[in-house]
Order: sequence, then C-alpha cells, then structure tokens
Amino acid sequence: MIPSTSQFHHDDLAIVVVGHVDHGKSTIIGRLLADTDSLPTGKLEQVREYCRRNSRPFEYAFLLDALKEEQAQGITIETARCFFRTARRNYLILDAPGHIEFLKNMVTGASRAQAALLVIDAVEGVQENSRRHATMLSLLGIRQVIGLVNKMDLTGYDRARFDEIVKEIAAFMEQLQIFPQVYIPVSGREGDNIAHTSHKTSWYRGPTVVEVLDQFQPEKPSEEKPFRMPVQGIYRFTQDGDNRRIIAGTVASGKISAGAELTFHPSGKSGSVNSIEVVTQDPDVPVRAGYPTGFTLKEQIYITRGEIAACTRDQAPQVSSRLKTSLFWLGRSSLTKDKEYFIKLGTAKVKARVEEIRKVLNASNLHSQSKMTIERNEVGECIWILEKAIAFDLGEIPETSRFVVIDNYEISGGGTVLEALEDQQGAIREKVFLRNSKWEKSSITPEERAIKYGQKSALILITGPKDSGKKPIARALEKRLFEEGRLVYFLGIGSVLYGVDADIKGSKVNNREEHIRRLAEVSHVLLEMGAILIVTAVELTQADLGIFETVVLPDRVETIWVGAHITTDIFCDLQLTTPMPQEKAVETIQIELLRSGILNS
Ligand code: GTP
Ligand code: MG
Repeated sequence: MIPSTSQFHHDDLAIVVVGHVDHGKSTIIGRLLADTDSLPTGKLEQVREYCRRNSRPFEYAFLLDALKEEQAQGITIETARCFFRTARRNYLILDAPGHIEFLKNMVTGASRAQAALLVIDAVEGVQENSRRHATMLSLLGIRQVIGLVNKMDLTGYDRARFDEIVKEIAAFMEQLQIFPQVYIPVSGREGDNIAHTSHKTSWYRGPTVVEVLDQFQPEKPSEEKPFRMPVQGIYRFTQDGDNRRIIAGTVASGKISAGAELTFHPSGKSGSVNSIEVVTQDPDVPVRAGYPTGFTLKEQIYITRGEIAACTRDQAPQVSSRLKTSLFWLGRSSLTKDKEYFIKLGTAKVKARVEEIRKVLNASNLHSQSKMTIERNEVGECIWILEKAIAFDLGEIPETSRFVVIDNYEISGGGTVLEALEDQQGAIREKVFLRNSKWEKSSITPEERAIKYGQKSALILITGPKDSGKKPIARALEKRLFEEGRLVYFLGIGSVLYGVDADIKGSKVNNREEHIRRLAEVSHVLLEMGAILIVTAVELTQADLGIFETVVLPDRVETIWVGAHITTDIFCDLQLTTPMPQEKAVETIQIELLRSGILNS
C-alpha cells in the first residue's frame, strides 16, 4: 500500500507543501492522501470515528498524525513524511513544519523536494510567510511550483477574490523568477480541484492539483548526473590481517560500481574502486544516488571526511576557499562580518567568515537594502572566506551546492553556492592536483605507519610575532617527542632556504608564496613517511596557512600561535599566551596533540 523507502523510485517525485500558518497545508496533504486512495484501508473511517467519539470536528489534517505513527514503524524515517500514489507515479510529501526545519532538511539532505505547492488562504490572502517561503523556494532552486488558493469555500468560490490573490502573488513570484505552472482555486476541506474537478468553480477550466503534479517532470534523475559522494568517513579494519579501508558516504548523484576511477576533491588524490562493501540493494547493480555505500580502493591513499569523490572522467567539482553564495538568514542574531561561523556543505564543515555582504533583501517584500549585516528573514548574497578550501558544485547538483551556516551550534541560515571565486591558492592547488595524480603510491598504508610510530603524521606550525620564543619551544618540543620515541623533526626555514630554494633565494621578485610552497612540499614528503614535523615562522597569515593546507591537506596541519595577541587573520588551533615557562608550553602543545589525535596516548 504505502511504498517503503526502498520501493520509492528515484524518478518519483518528492514535493513540499509550504505557506503561511493555518492556510491549510496539512488539510491539503490529508486530502491528497484520501482522494487518491493512498490511505490504508479503513484509516479514514477510523479517524472519523475517533473524532466522533471525542466530539471533535473531523479534520483532514488528522490523517497525517494518524499515518505518521503507522509509517514510522516499518520504515526508517529521518524526517516526517508521507506517501501518496496516482496512476502515474508515487509521491513523497515532505512535511515542513516550519521554515527553519524545512530549510535545514532541504540543505542537509534529509529530504529534498523537486516540486512545491504554495498554499494561500483565500480569505487571509498573501501573508508574510507566503512570501518568505516563496523566496526560499527560489533560493533552493525549486522551479516546479503550483500556487493554490485554498479555502475557496469560505469565499463562496468567488472568482474575483481568486484573481486578486493570484495577481498579487504572481507579481511577487515574478521578482523571484519563479513562474508557477498554474494557480488553482481549491478547498482542502471540501476537496475541490485537489484530485477531482469541482463543479463549484465552473469559471476555472484548468487542471486539478493531481493532474498538474502528474505532468511535472522529475528532474533529470540524480543517477544520470556525474557521480558525487561526499566522504562521510574512512573506516579501517586493522585486526587479523584485515587491511580494508572502507570509504563511506551516501551517493549524492550518479552511480558507482567496482572498477570506477575516482578522484577526491579538494585533495586531487585518485584511486580505483576495488570492491563495494556496503550495499543496501542488489550487489550486482551500481549503487545509485540516494543510497549509502562504502567501498575500498586499490590504492592506499590518504583522504579525509569532507572530500567529495567524483569520477575522474566526469566534470570535476569546483574547489575554492572563497565562495559567492545566496543566503537565507534565520539566525536570532544577525549575520555580521566580524564573526566566525561554520559552513556545512556535503560532509565538509569548515570555519568561515563573511568577506562581503553584497546584497540584502527582505524575504517577505524583496525590498533591497544596502547594509553591513543580514537580519533574520532576510536574504542576501555574500562572499565567504573559508578556513580551508572545499569542493562543491554550482547548482546542477543541489546535493553538493547547498550549504547551511552554523552560528553557535545552531543552523542559522542556508543557501546555494553561486560562484567559485578565485582564492590565493588556486595556482598552487593545480600543481598539487597534478602531483597527487602522479604520486607513487605506497603499498604501506598511512594507518600501518601510524600504528608503527604511535602517531599520525602532522605538520606543526608554530607561529607568532618575532621574538616571541617560537624556536626554543619548537626545539624543546622536538626533543620531548623524540625522547618519547616519536618520529619527529624540527625543520628550520634556513634548512630549506639555502638548498631547495637556492634558485629563488635573493631574487627581486617577492617569492614568499613559492618559498612556502616548497617548504610545504618538503613537509609533505616527510609527512607521507609518517613523521611529525615542526616548523616555525613569523606571523603566518591565513593565506600562508592556506598554502600549507593545500599542499599537505588541512587535517594534517596543526597551528599554534605563540603570543598574547593574534596579529594576523589566521585561524589557530592553539594559542599560547606568553609568558609561559618552556616546559609548560611543551606540555600544553602535547595535550593539544593528544586531543587532535596526532599523538596516541
Ligand atoms: P500549520 O501547520 O499550523 O501552519 O497550518 P496548516 O497550513 O497545516 O493548516 P491546516 O491544514 O491545519 O488548517 C488550518 C485550519 O484551516 C483548520 O481548521 C482547517 O480545518 C481549516 N481549513 C483548511 N483548509 C480549509 C478549506 O479549504 N476550507 C475551510 N473552510 N477551512 C479549511
Ligand atoms: Mg500543518
């Protein structure tokens, strides 16, 4: 009767019902279920009977609550949702109890609508949330929309009132570049024009809601798009000679099977799929979009959560640490330039700051303002600077182009990446990408080395103002770790400057970037070997750090600032406020290295 998640075909349609509070969203959903005979046998009667016994007027909306319990038993449901079916296909209705939840679910991937019903009360007319939700649909790129003027029964099916509302909302939608396929006069309570043409609106000659829904094209099925899988985690089996490293995630688009050549972004590391280890369906067919999976690679490469796996032959995702995005802000406190946020896109979660607020619109009237902040329920366009580069797509694959902003542990906004802006590491990233594709892969896994040495290889950057005591701390740290039996090396800048950099040293051109790149490349080799490397440098900026992280991978870099004030824009893992005995400084760093998992206890 009700299809389970696994029976829900991906060419079927997920729809969301939005609109102002009490305008009849739940009633319309109840009607859709009842009038398409999608309810379990006897359910309607059962709910009617329950209402009679409790002397409550029957509401179609009650059907949803009654169903939720039932459907929840058989199926794993991350978000409340229900199904109905027509002769043409199955529909999944995503329940959007409030716009924060809706946005959250849409962006985090718990649920994704391909079409929307925008419900407007014929008596109350267009209200604030009608407009806000419409704005949100536009930001999320939902283009298949039906405008429903509900509760027509309360207006005596008045055509003039219908026309008036349509005129108002259509003008608003036009500004958003959303052109609903049709506006339909309906009554959820009476069932007019939902699944059956109503004779009470004889002046309306258009289709019913179900007829329009059935004409909607499911978007190009995700599985026909390029393969994308945000890496959720890498699971290692190191016991009993089992050396499998399973790379796990949910396929966001496309499909994957054994033998596929993959490249991981932003690192550019590549490998081919050896075997698919986690399947929730027939193991002989490729794992498709929407399904969790896990696979092993033939090569032993070091990749991390947050990267996006793509097919090497497909168009590659974008990579940058500067993004231009649309943004819908729902946070209690306003979005400002001088605050640190987290951006979550796919499985990547990175610290982010707003570089520029480009445009601010009030979501309910689209009035444009030029401001320094974005307030709750405003939409805008901003430029973000991320702590490190991430991979993403632009629009064509919503799963990897939508993001949420986290402020103080709360999802406070969301949007879509509009453009990958050039960041300072672009040119270096290309070199690294090529180097990674040519890298001679070892038959010893990074995990095997880590177990042998009791540590994860890492680059520890100790930075801060001149003469703040960085070098003595670095040396003391090297000594301490060495005495504990770690594989560790303090690499002085001078050691690189007169050797690896001999050809560019002293040249007139400002070669800072190239110096750092080479230092980072040298570090990379030593890190591949399994070492902990300690490097000191005066007042590293975020851009400098960006180069290190582009060359050696962000999760292998640990930054420590020595000094009372951080004088650059760098994001640090640890700050040592001077003065502090060297002994204490080394201990503090050791604790940080244990915390971050670089040292095993
Ligand atoms: P929230 O979930 O609270 O935002 O409300 P909603 O949009 O889901 O509205 P709901 O379906 O709960 O309906 C709100 C009220 O409007 C209920 O009392 C319904 O009976 C009533 N209602 C909904 N549709 C119609 C209709 O077509 N005609 C009339 N007369 N009343 C309706
Ligand atoms: Mg409701």
